[in-house]
Amino acid sequence: MHRGARGRGYTLMLTPTSATGTFANDFQLSQAEFDRIRVLVREHTGIALSESKRQLVYGRLARRLRALKLGSFSDYILLLEKGEPAELEEFTNAVTTNLTSFFREPHHFEFLAQQMLPEALKRNTGLRRLRIWCCAASTGEEPYSIAMVLREAQESLKGWDTKLLATDLDSNVLAHGKRGVYGHDRFAGMSSNRVSRFFDEVRDGKDNKLSASGDLRSLVTFKQLNLMHEWPMKGPFDAIFCRNVIIYFDKDTQRALFERMAALQRPGDYLFLGHSESLYRVCDRYELIGRTIYRRLPD
Ligand SMILES: C[S@@+](CC[C@H](N)C(=O)[O-])C[C@H]1O[C@@H](n2cnc3c(N)ncnc32)[C@H](O)[C@@H]1O
Repeated sequence: MHRGARGRGYTLMLTPTSATGTFANDFQLSQAEFDRIRVLVREHTGIALSESKRQLVYGRLARRLRALKLGSFSDYILLLEKGEPAELEEFTNAVTTNLTSFFREPHHFEFLAQQMLPEALKRNTGLRRLRIWCCAASTGEEPYSIAMVLREAQESLKGWDTKLLATDLDSNVLAHGKRGVYGHDRFAGMSSNRVSRFFDEVRDGKDNKLSASGDLRSLVTFKQLNLMHEWPMKGPFDAIFCRNVIIYFDKDTQRALFERMAALQRPGDYLFLGHSESLYRVCDRYELIGRTIYRRLPD
């Protein structure tokens, strides 16, 4: 058995021992148990796990079994089926993948600064209102990147009612985003101007870290929201950042999701997807106008 470092601590790298597909470790994960867990993951998060995700699921959930001092995955499944909210939250937090970074896929932020904002300033002149929703915000790097672009345009946005909503299903990453404190390694590739303008040096335990400034934070509202549940927002959103999350959903889930997003946008509003994501054969309410940049079509 090897232990490999990953974002959330340690993953157990397991080797199947037999054709039954059980693993040489402290718990057995039978095919039936894995299949039931896949159904529960799908029900609670929309995430469709393929057969190849078995080791990943084992690694992430075995930690829950140990924490709860349970003897088997069957016991854990019974617990989940009782629907106790605290464990369901731990469960959904454990199965999400939260990889993100500041200015990930930088062309989207260039587009936002150079094309979308100047255009919105003209379109929304009467309202003087700008709304952006970042719907899979993870630990906050994505919404803070958007917020930096908005602050850099603050002269033109003076007097505007500008709001950025950052939501995610995972309560742990959301708490991280709200706190807005990051290790220096997270800022590789960001200009020193941006770092010094928008982040303050702070002491976090034994470490020196960087904290999003109060001014930057004041632009972003973090809220927990499961995309599979009802959305309390009314819109309209000038832009929705829905990046690197639909890859985890099946096509029907994606279809339903984008219909609901289209209902929160006006013709001409923008939708940003992740680099490997597309609306092709999923939703015809938007037209592709750039690299994974879509624009809402008229009704
Ligand atoms: C790979 S991260 C992408 C983060 C960021 N959007 C980016 O592109 O860098 C995917 C995020 O989607 C969130 N997520 C997964 N299923 C979700 C759901 N049903 N509702 C809301 N967020 C979800 C995860 O918690 C995770 O933080």
